[in-house]
Amino acid sequence: MRTQVGIVGAGPAGLLLAHLLQLRGIESVVLDVQSRAAIEQTIRAGILEQGTADLLRDAGVGARMARESKIHHGINLAFEGGLHRIDLTGLSGGRSVVVYPQHEVLVDLIAQRLADDGDLRFGVADVAVDGIEGEPSITFTHDGATQRLDCDFVVGADGSHSQCRRLVTGRRDFFRQYPFAWFGILAEAPPSYDELIYAHSDRGFVLVSTRSPTVQRLYFQCDPATAVDDWSDDRIWAEFAARLAPAGVKVQDGPIFKKDVLQFRSFVAEPMQRGRLFLVGDAAHTVPPTGAKGLNLAVADVRVLERALGAWYSGDAAPLAAYTATALRRVWRVQWFSWWMTSMLHRFPDDAGEFDLRRQIAELQLVTSSEAAARTLAEHYVGAPPGV
Ligand code: DHB
Repeated sequence: MRTQVGIVGAGPAGLLLAHLLQLRGIESVVLDVQSRAAIEQTIRAGILEQGTADLLRDAGVGARMARESKIHHGINLAFEGGLHRIDLTGLSGGRSVVVYPQHEVLVDLIAQRLADDGDLRFGVADVAVDGIEGEPSITFTHDGATQRLDCDFVVGADGSHSQCRRLVTGRRDFFRQYPFAWFGILAEAPPSYDELIYAHSDRGFVLVSTRSPTVQRLYFQCDPATAVDDWSDDRIWAEFAARLAPAGVKVQDGPIFKKDVLQFRSFVAEPMQRGRLFLVGDAAHTVPPTGAKGLNLAVADVRVLERALGAWYSGDAAPLAAYTATALRRVWRVQWFSWWMTSMLHRFPDDAGEFDLRRQIAELQLVTSSEAAARTLAEHYVGAPPGV
């Protein structure tokens, strides 16, 4: 088989890239070792930056999002017994975020790819990428037969456990681990508040988010070794209530139908390319979940790469050569933002003394009283503009 771009990974990054390339008339094949059901079951965050939502809409995959999402113009920071609103729209020149489960973005992208008769193969095995310095190919087994796909380029969109990343030899990995995790739940309940709440508390961080008028997503900071089965529904709701009561927020409870523990990591691989291989999304970087940037950052990579590939096929190789440099500017900006939100809001169990706690309160007072500081938060929360 032959195609122009072989894409390893049928998550949001790989599928969006395939779709955008198709709009440019560039052919691709998308492969994934996981089944469609397994990929669709991965739980993701619920916030799309305005730029992400605009891109999906402009690419013709935003119809269901337009019907089922909700625009949020603000978020709230809770600390020291108060609740403080950050006016995202007022502070960011009129931008906002879209509450639409990132999981549904994936469902929409798969449906679009199938409707377009695009080549998309789930459940492949023995994937091996060769020839990235010259004539790339991907071999894999599918339905019991070994296949070979020759292509002009290979894109590694294969997530944080990326196999493709290993082919970027001579790279440098930057890594940071955090001494806590999030316990996340999905519950059938009405919203506890009309916007998201990021709460600093003596017992640790809480995030009150939402999926729909009847399904809520909440998280509390926990030990990374926490086992979901140790936490009954009653104990979970009591923990949320205890952490949110000081800010005067009453938690609306209900049956919990999903519990998971999210690990915290910051990771960047440099460069994001070698020869004819390019990495996008989690294959090249991971952000801690605070701020919900993972998918949004993957979309930003994809946007840079699809334009660069478009330029290459039109005879201009320079943007593709500069892919890493262009993408990394935003990657590191978003790394900073995710680290900043994380470090401002969580209890650090291994901190010596109370210094960090006092420093966090000072920082929260700054971002809720200084317009300049609040604007910095708002501009990055709704999404740094293209070019950063
Ligand atoms: C969600 C997750 C986040 O990490 C965040 O900052 C906001 C919302 C979510 O899952 O809804």
